[in-house]
Amino acid sequence: MDKLLISGGIRLDGEVRISGAKNAALPLLAATLLGETPVTLTNVPQLKDITTMIQILGNMGVSVVIDEKCQVEVNANTLTTAVAPYELVRTMRASIFVLGPLLARFGEATVSLPGGCAIGSRPVDQHLKALAALGADIQVENGYVHARTKGRLKGARFVFDMVTVGGTENLLMAATLAEGTTVIENAAREPEIINLAGLLSAMGAQISGAGTDTITVQGVKALQGCTYRVIADRIETGSYLAAAAVTGGRVKTLDTDPFLLDAVLLKFRDVGALVTTGPDWIELDMQGRRPLAVNFRTAPHPGFPTDMQAQFMAVSAVSEGTSTIIETIFENRYMHVPELNRLGAKIAVDGHTAIVSGVSELQAAPVMATDLRASMSLVIAALAAKGDTLVDRIYHIDRGYERVEEKLQSLGANIRRVTGREESQ
Ligand code: UD1
Repeated sequence: MDKLLISGGIRLDGEVRISGAKNAALPLLAATLLGETPVTLTNVPQLKDITTMIQILGNMGVSVVIDEKCQVEVNANTLTTAVAPYELVRTMRASIFVLGPLLARFGEATVSLPGGCAIGSRPVDQHLKALAALGADIQVENGYVHARTKGRLKGARFVFDMVTVGGTENLLMAATLAEGTTVIENAAREPEIINLAGLLSAMGAQISGAGTDTITVQGVKALQGCTYRVIADRIETGSYLAAAAVTGGRVKTLDTDPFLLDAVLLKFRDVGALVTTGPDWIELDMQGRRPLAVNFRTAPHPGFPTDMQAQFMAVSAVSEGTSTIIETIFENRYMHVPELNRLGAKIAVDGHTAIVSGVSELQAAPVMATDLRASMSLVIAALAAKGDTLVDRIYHIDRGYERVEEKLQSLGANIRRVTGREESQ
């Protein structure tokens, strides 16, 4: 199993290109199922989760062509079976995104129920209730969701019990081909929803209100292919800015969008970083200073994203003063805390609250990644820690960070991948 070996204590300095957003590319790939002609997506990141989604499409007989410029062309007309099997779904919860489009376009879908995951139980009840509200017949049997509709889905008003990004995306995709009007209330407002609505509109869907908590969709009979770009990864962007902050360094993130992460940039300014932005770049300069403690609570967009909580906690770990962090989205998203404490951090957790007493220096230790964002928080902390840190189970990081060690090396970090083969020698 691969590991990352990091010799910390180097101030990062340089520029890094941000990849397309995994969390935008996944629903966009699922949405290609709705097109009567091929859809081409550009700026698709090369990541394990993207490969999994492409395998799910390929397994259904859908033709997928990937070129060397990360463009992915999908032709859903070759679909032979509307089934997403457990073997693939269990490795990635976002597989559930195919449910809505399959049902809307082909009238049926059989998708394995995703299991729980390290950060929480993460049920899909809202996805199923939303599709049932459009008239789908939904049965859950032997770990599979079987969804069917006689004729087209029927537009309806649906109010989500909680703000759910994936639930909003599944319903939005299904509603595009429903008969009549669908009104989605308590909709998620994440930039990835706007990106998805943008693709669907370019395919011919009639959507208004994406990016607000009420989205209205006038169903149409068919959607066509187009070429569409995946937005920049705001979480990858924030993670590299956190790496600059923790090392007292300067990092300029390129091909990104400052409007995607307002709440995070505000917190970086509060820790004392000099943050400057242009139309497609963000630079954070810590000017050699130690960050100051700040408090934050995660919330649906435009609040502070839960996907940045772990990485920002690594910054808090070395900050001057005590930070209070409250996680409100997932019930078990502090798995990185014991690992950060192994690196010398002083973090106590009580329920949803983490109290971080900043220390002036972290020390290297072997640590283990537990989930995607947690693994990046360990890498960020290791960049500031004195000595050599070995981060184990980095397959988590490969799910969501494209060429992470190359990008950090280009910023001056001393980091390398230790392969399983090298270790056994
Ligand atoms: C997406 C992101 C993930 C991010 C999360 C919150 C993708 C591929 N993943 O996940 O990186 O951390 O948004 O910003 O885009 N819930 C239910 N029932 C449901 C659906 C959700 O109870 O049917 C709960 C979840 O357990 C969680 C909360 O709602 O507590 C929010 O989850 P949701 O927004 O749906 O997250 P995902 O779409 O799975």
